[in-house]
Amino acid sequence: MSSTSAPAPSVRGAVRPRLSVIVPTFNEHDNIEPLVEKLQRALEGITFEIIVVDDNSPDGTAELAKSLAAERPNVRCIHRFGRRGLSSACIEGMASSAADFVAVIDADHQHDETILPLMLAEAEAGADIVVGSRYTGEGNSSAGFTKSRQAGSTLATRLSGILTGKTLSDPMSGFFLMPRSLFNTVVPSLSREGFKILLDIVVSADRLKDGELAIAEVPYSFRPRHAGESKMSPLIVAQFLGLIVSKISRGVLPTSFLLFSLVGATGVVVHMAALAFFLFVAEFNFANGQLAATVVAMTSNYILNNELTYADKRLTGRRFWTGLLSFYLVCSFGTVANVSVASVIYEAQLTNVFVAGIAGVVMSVVFNYAVTRMFTWRD
Ligand code: GDD
Ligand code: MN
Repeated sequence: MSSTSAPAPSVRGAVRPRLSVIVPTFNEHDNIEPLVEKLQRALEGITFEIIVVDDNSPDGTAELAKSLAAERPNVRCIHRFGRRGLSSACIEGMASSAADFVAVIDADHQHDETILPLMLAEAEAGADIVVGSRYTGEGNSSAGFTKSRQAGSTLATRLSGILTGKTLSDPMSGFFLMPRSLFNTVVPSLSREGFKILLDIVVSADRLKDGELAIAEVPYSFRPRHAGESKMSPLIVAQFLGLIVSKISRGVLPTSFLLFSLVGATGVVVHMAALAFFLFVAEFNFANGQLAATVVAMTSNYILNNELTYADKRLTGRRFWTGLLSFYLVCSFGTVANVSVASVIYEAQLTNVFVAGIAGVVMSVVFNYAVTRMFTWRD
């Protein structure tokens, strides 16, 4: 090759980055530019790129990230539409990398970017996963957490200890780094729901490596948020608990199925309360009361599933209403499935009324789950 055809090192893509730093964002407008500056300083001398993955934040984070990308060859932005979710954003960012190593860091400056070179060195020395930890050595979380968040975080850490053994001091950390090759091997088994991507990666990778996964931890102090607000919510907590049970069942029960069943259980309570209202307050006859209560319960199930179980593909606008109609339709068939299965089992005198009833309920939950995934909340 002649020397004139060698690409100039400043051209985007001419030098393969050693490290991709993924920054998931939702409404982080005021944090992005100072974070890019901080990363630039911390990673001086290392060939790296920054990949901002934004879920079309209303505050214009993606536009700002793209204007930074226009000035800086090592910044780019994945601008996602119609999707929400921290885990899926991290997965998508890492999947788009061509670097040797990938890291994930929050946009709000809570994670200490100055330990990234040390994290990279640990991975280069052979660690499979390097975790920025608030709970080992010099690390701590007191500055970044309120008392109740601290209690929640401690509880979540213990719960996930059940899953991972005691190999991780901070399984809830959203700050980690690993070889891209390892990410590529685990990505098919990762859940795209919720917040807890690291826990998910560790459990999946550990299974792939028969418990031989080499984890390194680098301590840091969790800082208060720079600007904006946290996106943590009760929904995220419910999704996290779902992930734990799903992982304990080794994926036999997907998180979304557990949440769907949980919502179904709340539907029973809603149904009974609505039925009491229609019979005793509105003075409907039983058939009409039962029908009206069914519609109320189906509607509340639909809304809860849309907000919780399928938060990552939440239907809005016109699609909210067409989704509701398809949900009503599927649930009506689900009821037919319920009643027929229960009757067949009952009539064959295989078992008692109670077991036949439960079998019918299980049948309709499985049916509704499977079919609404096909028609209501499609991938
Ligand atoms: N793309 C995208 N989509 N990014 C998101 C979304 C989303 O739906 N939700 C949150 N993020 C981004 C935020 O913009 C931020 O950069 C990062 O994910 C963390 O979100 P925060 O809202 O700041 O979460 P937190 O501080 O409450 O939780 C953090 O600390 C936990 C430790 O207890 C996260 O790092 C968690 O991963 C970590 O477990
Ligand atoms: Mn935060």
